Amino acid sequence: MTVPVPSRPVVLLTRRLPDPWIESLREQCDLRVGSAGPGIDAALREGLPQAHGILSLLTEPIDAELLDAAPNLRVVSNMAVGVDNVDLKACTKRFIPVGHTPGVLTEATADLTMTLMLAAARRLPQATADAKEGRWTTWTPDGWLGRDLWCATLGIVGLGQIGTAVARRARAFGMQIVYTNRSPLLDAAAQLGARSLPFDALLEVADIVSIHAPLTPATRLLFDDDAFDLMKDDAILVNTARGPIVDTDALTRALSHGQIGAAALDVVDPEPLPAEHPLYAMPNAIVAPHIGSATAGTRQQMAQLAIENLLAGLEGRRLPHCANQRDLDRHTTRLPGA
Ligand code: DGY
Repeated sequence: MTVPVPSRPVVLLTRRLPDPWIESLREQCDLRVGSAGPGIDAALREGLPQAHGILSLLTEPIDAELLDAAPNLRVVSNMAVGVDNVDLKACTKRFIPVGHTPGVLTEATADLTMTLMLAAARRLPQATADAKEGRWTTWTPDGWLGRDLWCATLGIVGLGQIGTAVARRARAFGMQIVYTNRSPLLDAAAQLGARSLPFDALLEVADIVSIHAPLTPATRLLFDDDAFDLMKDDAILVNTARGPIVDTDALTRALSHGQIGAAALDVVDPEPLPAEHPLYAMPNAIVAPHIGSATAGTRQQMAQLAIENLLAGLEGRRLPHCANQRDLDRHTTRLPGA
């Protein structure tokens, strides 16, 4: 079914983005932009009844209530690969495609994963803080001792695009790779020398565990007290996926009781983690402010892809990257007369 394209579709951009990134959108649409902070502000909400498209960031929940207020909506385009902030079922029910941005942030996120892994393994934050704060008085043979990566086993939880890019890097560092994935991947063994293991077995053998799974009901709080019990007591946990995959309280306990060795986190639950949270004071924890994709080039590409998805949806075309395409197809074929 072809739906006429409005001459200047109304598009709500939930947060401010740098002007050069959204020039093409401004040219083609009646663009209404939210504030600099997270959440959909009241002024933007007023535009929901007219909105044909929403370009959202991962900080904005797109839920059924919001969709109900936007009866003309044709597309939601999320400027992120993760879509856990969007109620996909509610969108599918309303025949609304949801765009996302896989691929373009893979390498940047894999780079940050390695950065965190190396920083935790070599205790870099402690060492540099000691140097800066006057505690570096001499070269010490047993000071700031970290651990070797070249002979370590890396356990990857979720061997998708980012997990695979991390595995490639880790191989170059001489690490052994084990992984767990929703389905075993035939190429992984051949191309990465990676061995598939059940989740519990991976936790038992890995020196470093790196999370690259999406946040779903199945992965929420996957890392709880029981998971930390299984991990080695000097293991490092790296999370560049989504904060709620890890139970923050259980992690805080595991780190303070020496159940695991260290954690290096780009994502946490909640985000932002309040400044007084005990994790910041722990010498064996690194917390970064969700910067996995934060290179100028990558973020611009994410914005571009989000715009491409949005424009395709406004025109009734298939989105280049649609997170609910399969469900939409199923839903459409179930329609009477389809
Ligand atoms: C994503 O795209 O899902 C990342 O978390 C933000 O870069």
